[in-house]
Amino acid sequence: MEQYIIKGGNPLVGEVVIGGAKNAALGILAASIMTDGRCLIDNVPDVRDINVLLQAMEGIGAVIDRKSSNEVEISGKNIDSNGDLIVDNEYIRRIRASYYLIGALLGKYRKAKVVLPGGCDIGSRPIDQHIKGFRALGAKVKIEHGMVIAEAKVLRGAHIYLDVVSVGTTINIMMAASLAKGNTIIENAAKEPHIVDVANFLNSMGANIRGAGTDVIRIKGVEKFHDTEYSIIPDQIEAGTFMVAAAATKGDILIKNVIPKHLEAISAKLIEIGAEVEESDDAVRVVATRRLKHTQIKTLPYPGFPTDMQPQMAITLGLSKGTSTITESIFENRFRYVDELRRMGANIKMVDGNVAIIYGVDKYTGAEIDAPDLRAGAALVIAGLAAEGYTTVSQIGYIQRGYERFDEKLRSLGGLIEKVDSEREINKFRFKTGSMM
Ligand code: UD1
Repeated sequence: MEQYIIKGGNPLVGEVVIGGAKNAALGILAASIMTDGRCLIDNVPDVRDINVLLQAMEGIGAVIDRKSSNEVEISGKNIDSNGDLIVDNEYIRRIRASYYLIGALLGKYRKAKVVLPGGCDIGSRPIDQHIKGFRALGAKVKIEHGMVIAEAKVLRGAHIYLDVVSVGTTINIMMAASLAKGNTIIENAAKEPHIVDVANFLNSMGANIRGAGTDVIRIKGVEKFHDTEYSIIPDQIEAGTFMVAAAATKGDILIKNVIPKHLEAISAKLIEIGAEVEESDDAVRVVATRRLKHTQIKTLPYPGFPTDMQPQMAITLGLSKGTSTITESIFENRFRYVDELRRMGANIKMVDGNVAIIYGVDKYTGAEIDAPDLRAGAALVIAGLAAEGYTTVSQIGYIQRGYERFDEKLRSLGGLIEKVDSEREINKFRFKTGSMM
């Protein structure tokens, strides 16, 4: 079983280059099958969720040409529109973004049969708003035998008011409505940077979407899409994770290939607790030289503090002076890392399941822990790098779903971390790092 072994205590220092945004890429790759032309897409992160989605797209006949690890050419021309367009395999069942194939296939072929989405277990994660949106566009949608089955004779633009601000729903409706007849307005739309990126990608194929990035998105349906070439935006959460890694290990990291505007909520909190954050055009540098302070955080849709950065920030606050609170308002099951972190010496009290009261401790100590989900997994790796002694993190498949070469990037910053597969390799790492003291 693959694990990370970490010897903590080294401040992370140096430069790191951020990859393409996973959550934008998932929407963009799914949308690429909406043209019979070719889509050349660059800055695609080479992570498991992306590879699972591409494999599922191949399963329905899309031609995927991996030009390099971060560039892919896709053609949807050979998708058999007379078939049932069934998307299902054991891997796609475990990811969340399979739902984007419903919007893409429904928009292009007026039908789709896609297995119900899985994804990290961070809450109940319903898809009622997606279904409401497709129905408003005139589709019949039912759930049978674990599959979402959607079909429409005609898709017609509609005025849709979302009951909750949902990233997935906003992207899904944008896709289907772009090839519908007439105009669609999405009210109470999500505003995350990856919504704007997917809209820009669809527009580059010939869609007519305005207002992405605000809470009202207007879409004029067009008849068909054409070839495009597109480069995906940098990953806001990967960047944020390295920013917090600098803070938690009292390090100094220059994080390159980022859009600082997308990181403002994270930068503001780091500055508030006493870290230095320097922004330039496409980089941020985070320096922490002394013990940081406490703060209050509440997760909110963009531009609020991202739920996907909550566990990483908790790791830092656990080592900061004073008492902090984190309130999770997006997902109900996002604190499963707290028990693991307590094994490393953190002092955290949970209230009502969605508020963590964090009493800062002087240090964490290494322990054997499990990654409970993608972001919490990355957060616990950072805790290990900040801790005294050795930590092993199991279930790292979660981390590999969303972070490209995570251990390699951390090593380049001076982190003592290795992926190991046996007791022998663990002992070898201990020997190597022990003798380096
Ligand atoms: C996406 C991201 C995830 C991130 C989340 C919030 C992907 C693949 N995943 O997830 O990393 O944490 O945005 O930024 O991009 N909801 C409903 N009904 C619906 C849809 C959502 O009630 O039909 C609720 C959810 O339970 C949650 C809230 O809306 O409480 C936000 O969810 P949403 O923005 O849709 O998250 P995802 O698209 O699943």
